[in-house]
Amino acid sequence: TDPALIRNFCIIAHIDHGKSTLADRMLQLTGVVEQRQMRAQYLDRMDIERERGITIKSQAVRMPWAADGTPHVLNMIDTPGHVDFTYEVSRSLAACEGCILLVDAAQGIEAQTLANLYLAMENDLTIIPVLNKIDLPAAQPDKFAAELAHLIGCDPGDVLRVSAKTGEGVGELLDEVIRQVPAPVGDADGPARAMIFDSVYDAYRGVVTYVKVVDGALGRRERIQMMSTGATHELLEIGVNSPEMTPSDGLAVGEVGYLITGVKDVRQSKVGDTVTFQRNGATQALGGYKDPRPMVFSGLYPIDGSDYPALRDALEKLQLNDAALVYEPETSAALGFGFRVGFLGLLHLEVVRERLEREFGLDLIATAPNVVYQVTMEDGSEFTVTNPSEFPVGKIAEVREPVVRATLIAPSEFIGAIMELCQTRRGSMQGMDYLSEERVELRYTLPLAEIVFDFFDALKSKTRGYASLDYEPTGEQAAALVKVDILLHGDKVDAFSAIVHKDKAYAYGVKMAGKLRELIPRQQFEVPIQAAIGSRVIARETVRAIRKDVLSKCYGGDISRKRKLLEKQKEGKKRMKMVGRVEVPQEAFIAALSSD
Ligand code: GTP
Repeated sequence: TDPALIRNFCIIAHIDHGKSTLADRMLQLTGVVEQRQMRAQYLDRMDIERERGITIKSQAVRMPWAADGTPHVLNMIDTPGHVDFTYEVSRSLAACEGCILLVDAAQGIEAQTLANLYLAMENDLTIIPVLNKIDLPAAQPDKFAAELAHLIGCDPGDVLRVSAKTGEGVGELLDEVIRQVPAPVGDADGPARAMIFDSVYDAYRGVVTYVKVVDGALGRRERIQMMSTGATHELLEIGVNSPEMTPSDGLAVGEVGYLITGVKDVRQSKVGDTVTFQRNGATQALGGYKDPRPMVFSGLYPIDGSDYPALRDALEKLQLNDAALVYEPETSAALGFGFRVGFLGLLHLEVVRERLEREFGLDLIATAPNVVYQVTMEDGSEFTVTNPSEFPVGKIAEVREPVVRATLIAPSEFIGAIMELCQTRRGSMQGMDYLSEERVELRYTLPLAEIVFDFFDALKSKTRGYASLDYEPTGEQAAALVKVDILLHGDKVDAFSAIVHKDKAYAYGVKMAGKLRELIPRQQFEVPIQAAIGSRVIARETVRAIRKDVLSKCYGGDISRKRKLLEKQKEGKKRMKMVGRVEVPQEAFIAALSSD
């Protein structure tokens, strides 16, 4: 195809503003999918995505559309919708020349829309502002058109109005995409350079890699090279999705499509990498490649120890399709054999955990998530700590923690509540803007560790669900952080060690010691439970010794999650763990970790 007739675009939208519905409507209108065969939300292929209404993996679809009688090719590139996948979003955007900024006409701009809009601007995309759901009685298109126009600096009259549901305005929107989005430009005669913006594992075909050809052309049977690693492969198949995979002879400048090389692992075909020819290839990779870097770690343990090999196999399988997932074996005195697993963020953690439980039938317990710390000792040596129990002892010069730039949007009546929350989470305010009279955008720098710890829940409850949040990593800062250990009869319980700000150490110690006191059964002797920073005890509780006339009360504060876990435990024989001299049923540890 002549690049002048190609338009590559994506849709940026907050969750539930109708991105999938609009994409479906476009597929239908362009005749790519017939109404009869139309499955709801064609682009979202994973069950979890569908159930939870989130898009994790992006893909691309090619659609024909004629403008003023000239047939054009539209490539719609789907972007993942969640904060944890910012890097993948940025690569999907980099494959486009324009984007549709889709906003619910009854809701207005939300934090996620804004964060992705900033990414689109960084990538110099042409932005087409669109209000969706104009069929809703609650829609306020004039109000939100003004908001959008104010935000991106256009005329309110230039904001398109559509209903993805009824199809109203969608044909005009496609015309506008052709009119406004620039055609891709590249060096057609140069050595091939294609950017990978997605990479998906398929059980039958191996890895399917999605690329945009920037320069030159790629053809079937050619030998290609991945520029970040130098690895070479043969192109077994090349083609486009429309919407099913359709093989072709090749892809030329500006085209978007897929490659199959027979590799079995997405880490051999990394998002952001540049594909070129093995022989006489390009010498300069396209900019912007980054290795995925896990930001949040958690220990994952099977509740039934005999599931350990199954957990290992399951993690191995998930990793085939998830270049950002890392893990290594770990043992805990309290929890047995498990894995230390690294994730891009909290949602990523949740999705992986849910897939392990649902698709692989595993019952798991996770330790509290922690971020990655950089520790410099007084003698100049440096450590990277991904597990609090490995925090070094001795003379520490400095501890650094990751920080994020957070964008929060809420009705202005909640400004005070949000500022207060961010304050208690060690945030520092970077700015505030009114989007309209009653809605405000707040920008904060916050330690990632504070967000990892139930920030979403706190934000939602303080703003009655009206606030939205998005964040991206921006680097690290030094902070007064200490490790708090929990000791049982003088012995450390590894799974409960935590790295916390020194001002919060006491509260953490008191909470965990109190929780364990309720959960640990009485022994023949008195068992002190202590929270300590190094050798300094900061909190103490005691499990009193068994006396004849007192029935031992084992577990307090039952809630359904705990009970479920305990019942599961009963199925097998009771497993006791020894922590020093103290015998503790494993479920006590599990219960202490699982409820809050
Ligand atoms: P995520 O995949 O979770 O990011 O959501 P999404 O942005 O893809 O939203 P989706 O297309 O799933 O739409 C969310 C809800 O809005 C669904 O219940 C749709 O039926 C509904 N919806 C989408 N477009 C319209 C519209 O134009 N009018 C009305 N009334 N409802 C719409």
